[in-house]
Amino acid sequence: MAEYEYETHDYDVVVVGAGGAGLRATLGMAEQGLRTACVTKVFPTRSHTVAAQGGIAASLSNMGPDNWQWHMYDTVKGSDWLGDTDAMEYLAREAPKAVYELEHYGVPFSRTEEGTIYQRPFGGHTTEFGEGPPVQRTCAAADRTGHAILHTLYGQSLKNNAEFYIEYFAIDLIMSEDGQCQGVVCWKLDDGTMHVFNAKMVVLATGGYGRAYFSATSAHTCTGDGGGMVARAGLALQDMEFVQFHPTGIYGSGCLITEGARGEGGYLTNSEGERFMERYAPQYKDLAPRDYVSRSMTMEIREGRGVGEHGDHIHLNLSHLPPEALAERLPGISESAKIFAGVDVTKEPIPVLPTVHYNMGGIPTNYWGEVLNPTAEDPNAVVPGLMAVGEAGCASVHGANRLGSNSLIDLVVFGRASAIRAGKVVDPESANPVLNTASVDKAFDRFDTLRNANGATPTAELRLEMQRTMQADAAVFRTDKTLKEGVDKMTDIAAKLGDLKVTDRSLVWNSDLMETLEMTNLMPNALATITGAEARKESRGAHAMEDHTKRDDENWRVHTVSRVDGNKVDLTYRPVVTDPLTTEDQGGISLKKIAPKARTF
Ligand code: FUM
Repeated sequence: MAEYEYETHDYDVVVVGAGGAGLRATLGMAEQGLRTACVTKVFPTRSHTVAAQGGIAASLSNMGPDNWQWHMYDTVKGSDWLGDTDAMEYLAREAPKAVYELEHYGVPFSRTEEGTIYQRPFGGHTTEFGEGPPVQRTCAAADRTGHAILHTLYGQSLKNNAEFYIEYFAIDLIMSEDGQCQGVVCWKLDDGTMHVFNAKMVVLATGGYGRAYFSATSAHTCTGDGGGMVARAGLALQDMEFVQFHPTGIYGSGCLITEGARGEGGYLTNSEGERFMERYAPQYKDLAPRDYVSRSMTMEIREGRGVGEHGDHIHLNLSHLPPEALAERLPGISESAKIFAGVDVTKEPIPVLPTVHYNMGGIPTNYWGEVLNPTAEDPNAVVPGLMAVGEAGCASVHGANRLGSNSLIDLVVFGRASAIRAGKVVDPESANPVLNTASVDKAFDRFDTLRNANGATPTAELRLEMQRTMQADAAVFRTDKTLKEGVDKMTDIAAKLGDLKVTDRSLVWNSDLMETLEMTNLMPNALATITGAEARKESRGAHAMEDHTKRDDENWRVHTVSRVDGNKVDLTYRPVVTDPLTTEDQGGISLKKIAPKARTF
């Protein structure tokens, strides 16, 4: 058994991760007087939410008519009828409240002439239950909305006495024998000390796992750490096969160019200079949802109408927009286009390509953020002491495809919901749980094994193998053959985790070891993704199967539940929640309105 000395910290709540969801949860917990710690592997304002550009969806009606029922309808349709209806209603109803709270906390939103929050159009957001024109629903702080939110929430959390443990890496969850989460074991990166956080509630807000792919808009820190810890605890992941490709990653670097660029009037063209989205989505054109636009771009490239020397990308045009509008509304991407593509957006188009951007799947939760451990007897069984929010979680509001700007609102609505729930279930007067030392020891043993790993495969080499396989075999379009080959390859790649070579054995700023720990988190996420994709014999949202081109509601309107053990994945399925929170006569949406139908734009 590995011997590590450690310091123990007792809290009511420990939040792991300090992005938008983690900070909103931290703030909400601390505001209620719960003793709250936020543990994060990066400085809070460097969390990946800082890169969120275009905005946050809420039906404020500042720029024209809108209401939460239209927002809910668009989210249901955007999800291709795989989202949970209660959670989608909660999201759309609570969104305006959550955004006004942000405004009052101090988020510097862009303003209209009247001084209200500026809102821009985003893909898939419409009026009149998908019958009317696009709606301006996405609240923006220029094209740096995530940056503005993150800084504000961090300041407010400090003001409310939340305690931050910065550059602490979470190794594993501490679970009791009977399945209650009791805390988390951490490694302090800058001095090599070990820490055990004992908590009545642990909230995983660790973000997505975009870095399982070769090219992603996600930061290099997006390594699915929460999903990895949950998988090792024998708990489930959900709907992992649904991976979003953002239509406009900069060709080559993958750097994000916000959908807000198209919201402000930008458009895509092929090698013939044609605005091809008019053919694929006659009603909403460049403002169709992301899965639609990414597939259309891929089809143009495949059919020989891509741009550039190799005909392998597409142009995003902004040069027709007034330079002052670009400077005021899109300053960040104007700069990114210059740095990463060498393009002056006032004069030339930006070369773009669909790029991995978001994971619709994650750790299954109810709409209060409580983690579920679905079984055949009880698909909604709650894991005591554990919550998951933000991209790490799967509530599930995005189903098979997320609408742009529904991510930032997911972070704050469900971060806030987890705090509301914790206020009810966490008793500040009660004693902290008695820690299961076997679970603590197990975490240190795993850490020590990796620290001393002396096999033949360097972490970076294995990571690249995984990333290239995921990129090639679980792409925008998928076939039975590529997925089957991909599952076989990933099964072999995951087996090589037992043959890793770590060269640095120190405990202080050991990036070799940290990347190895991250790799052990990426792998179960990647395995669940490709295995779930291979099993799902239909096309729905971001899961576009060339051998099964239709959505099959009879057999496949179900959530995929995956449990990963080593390089094996066990798949089961749980029902989608089809009942909303309120009925039509209570002011809710009519069931007829949200019944599944063909998804066209
Ligand atoms: O395009 C964007 O600004 C990204 C927004 C989102 O993913 O919600």
